[in-house]
Amino acid sequence: MQSKTSALDSPLKKQLAEEIAGLKKEKNAVIMAHYYQRDEIKEIADFIGDSLALARKAAETDADVIVMCGVHFMGETAKILCPDRTVLIPDPAAGCSLADSCDPVEFEKFVKQHPDHTVISYVNTSAAVKALTDIVVTSGNARKIVESLPEEEKIIFGPDHNLGEYINSVTGRSMLLWNGACHVHDRFSLQGIADLKKKHPGAKVLVHPECRRPLQIIADKVGSTAALLDFARKDEAKEYIVVTESGILFDMQRECPEKTFIPAPAEDSECQCNECDYMKMITLEKLRDCLRDGKPEIVVDPEIAKKAIKPIERMLALS
Ligand code: 13P
Ligand code: SF4
Repeated sequence: MQSKTSALDSPLKKQLAEEIAGLKKEKNAVIMAHYYQRDEIKEIADFIGDSLALARKAAETDADVIVMCGVHFMGETAKILCPDRTVLIPDPAAGCSLADSCDPVEFEKFVKQHPDHTVISYVNTSAAVKALTDIVVTSGNARKIVESLPEEEKIIFGPDHNLGEYINSVTGRSMLLWNGACHVHDRFSLQGIADLKKKHPGAKVLVHPECRRPLQIIADKVGSTAALLDFARKDEAKEYIVVTESGILFDMQRECPEKTFIPAPAEDSECQCNECDYMKMITLEKLRDCLRDGKPEIVVDPEIAKKAIKPIERMLALS
């Protein structure tokens, strides 16, 4: 993907990008990247998207190899949807604190305590948790999917407590919430954002629903990464305070070069932005090596995959 200001800003990065392009052709591979990836990864990706778009794209690709430049659960979702393809992840240690906050054994106990409830799980979960689920959702379709269920339906929602509170607030439901959180979104500083608002009174506040409730309440827009990008594209303000992982600022700035995007700070941090260290584990070198060597490969237990595909397909049908 071309951009006006290239993130391939050194001879080494340019050389790696060339090697990756050659290997991609040779292996009939497609490179998918989440918005939180490093800028240089997004610049050479075939497709950039939020979790929902990545799942949709994986379901329809005809490439032999899918390289998921994202975190492990995104690779698992792609593998579950495309069991006959090779799904690679440049660093298998790229996990997700939110997915880790939902242990499948504990979640199963919770589900069994409420047998009359429909189980909705956020896509940021392991395949084992998805296998215990009735419908998977992403932040891009959670509201629509919950609203598609009868009002009296009893629902368990996991693992993200903040997203669950948001969906309860906009739908008027009282879903039972699992107490999980993302270490990036759960630590944005309300005070830091208020300070930025004083300096930039005209700036609109864009908030991912994995952030805490007070931030959702002060937001001008709450939405998935793709929804926030779309809002910035269409809205008329000139400045935005962006309360999600700071990788998305690259895409916002690239699409709206005339606007100013200000990253929101985290609590207890000197840094002026907030990054997902798991997402940033993917580098051009690791991407080149994984395409060249055909590993590390995402493997999902076939029995778990057989169960986990049902709630994912239900999500794709409903969204
Ligand atoms: P999106 O579904 O908005 O892409 O978010 C995924 C994620 O990991 C957010 O932290
Ligand atoms: Fe997981 Fe949070 Fe990173 Fe998203 S930002 S991948 S939820 S740890």
